[in-house]
Amino acid sequence: MSSLPSQLSARIQAVTGADPELRPATKPQFGHFQSNVALRLSKAQGRPPREVAASIVEALDVADLCETPEIAGPGFINFRLRSDVLAAAVTAQLHDPHAGIAQATSPSTIVIDYSAPNAAKQMHVGHLRSTIIGDCFNRVLSAQGHRVIAQNHIGDWGRQFGMLIEQALDEGFSLDGAGFDELDLAGAEQLYKRANAHLKADQQFADRARERVVLLQAGDPQTRAMWQRLVELSKRGFDATYARMGVRLGPGDYAGESTYNEALPAVCEDLESRGIAVVDQGALVVFVDGFDAPAILRNSQGGYGYDVTDIAAVRHRVADLGAGRLIYVVGSEQTYHFNLVFGVCRKAGYLPSGVRAQHVGYGMVLGADGKKLSTREGTASLLNDLLDQAEEHATPAIALAAIKYADLSNSLQKDYVFDPERMTQTTGDTGPYLQYAHARVSQILRRAREEAEAAGGVPARSAAPEVSVLAQAPEQQLALWLTRFGEAVDEVAEELTPHKLCTYLFELATIYSSFYENCPVLRSQGQVRASRLGLCAATRQVLAKGLELLGIEAPERM
Ligand code: ARG
Repeated sequence: MSSLPSQLSARIQAVTGADPELRPATKPQFGHFQSNVALRLSKAQGRPPREVAASIVEALDVADLCETPEIAGPGFINFRLRSDVLAAAVTAQLHDPHAGIAQATSPSTIVIDYSAPNAAKQMHVGHLRSTIIGDCFNRVLSAQGHRVIAQNHIGDWGRQFGMLIEQALDEGFSLDGAGFDELDLAGAEQLYKRANAHLKADQQFADRARERVVLLQAGDPQTRAMWQRLVELSKRGFDATYARMGVRLGPGDYAGESTYNEALPAVCEDLESRGIAVVDQGALVVFVDGFDAPAILRNSQGGYGYDVTDIAAVRHRVADLGAGRLIYVVGSEQTYHFNLVFGVCRKAGYLPSGVRAQHVGYGMVLGADGKKLSTREGTASLLNDLLDQAEEHATPAIALAAIKYADLSNSLQKDYVFDPERMTQTTGDTGPYLQYAHARVSQILRRAREEAEAAGGVPARSAAPEVSVLAQAPEQQLALWLTRFGEAVDEVAEELTPHKLCTYLFELATIYSSFYENCPVLRSQGQVRASRLGLCAATRQVLAKGLELLGIEAPERM
């Protein structure tokens, strides 16, 4: 089912041969949509725009969708949808299990790389943003019917494990459980700090840590087993955080850096044998046009690092997972890294031209003082800090809504100030305000049902709600805005701009308020009342669906 504006667009395009670029009308008296296509065509046709507009209107057959189109000003064409058509569209949307979100005609496999914290360290605020944003992309693209594969590229490999394991051994940890059984992620972070201090102070320890890295890479069983325990307990810590955040990421989504260990020599060999990689100052590297520094596949000591791991990951995601689109939600400071990795992969053919690869960066979270937030000293994780702060002002579900909405409602690249008091308000452009709007409309529907039941009438539940009368301007405005939900979701999926969904929903709540103030629902009668209840039901459906796409709970009561 294509939306009303796109059906209308297609009709106009068939007559003019040009995209009508339909825009929402700026004022109610201009109808619902406006096109400037006549102005654009007039030059080529050598005729005045109003004349061109007149012949378009003459040739156009849209009587089943619109009132007669009107020509305005210098040659704009204004369209007003027929209210019966609009009413039928809202009713159809209300009965659509996807709430008007168009299902992809050819679904593709989309890999989203997000969250990606580092083992033996708690998630910092950047990982939290990545988790919230990635979760939203996952939900939006899944809702369109795509197959989304989340890949949690955790930092579970590298030199830091040498010192972590040596420190653990020094402190009497053993594989039969001693030490490890009591260690949680916060404890592992403390171990990390002690290991780091030890490393700086004790040359002998530093040497042992270095030898331990060699053992780890060589697959020494005891070393590997200790590494495994550290990674497992880190994952348990991350999973607890994901559960508290209500995100979809889980144990099945881990594909940490170590996943690619086996593939790295083969990637190097492949690229070297095809002359794509070259040896430069003892290191194996790939130069890409437009980049100052090359990507490093293998350093001069024979070690593999971050670049080559991501190159192997791209290859795996495209060749083995069948990805048609790759999305990376990682802080903006890694833009260069990803562009370079994509450049290498294009050159190598790991990333064919038909596969889109996108890095979505994001700005910083600032404290009230306008400075970058950083973890307080101590064991409290930053997520807990932030949630605790927000929970000083609201219940857990509301606090979470507040944080997620604050993360998603600005353009992602912007920094934003973490202001728990403002974010948890139920007025203004906040998550709790949208939750409250949902609870309010739920309450009206609940009352209508109770009244019907008390009157012994047909339980409202079994009578399919229907929108049939759109006589008042606020009713029409609400209906029109509801039918645009699908487009809003499509735009977010295409541009990866969650703030546009937030804006859409905030606008919906505002339009609904004005409908509610001007058009009595429970106090009206007969078909008008039924139709207004239908509008309420459609509003609730879209608010609930929209909040779900943002990862925010939609409470029935607040
Ligand atoms: N672990 C990295 C960090 O904390 C982020 C990894 C992002 N994903 C990737 N494929 N490189 O900065």
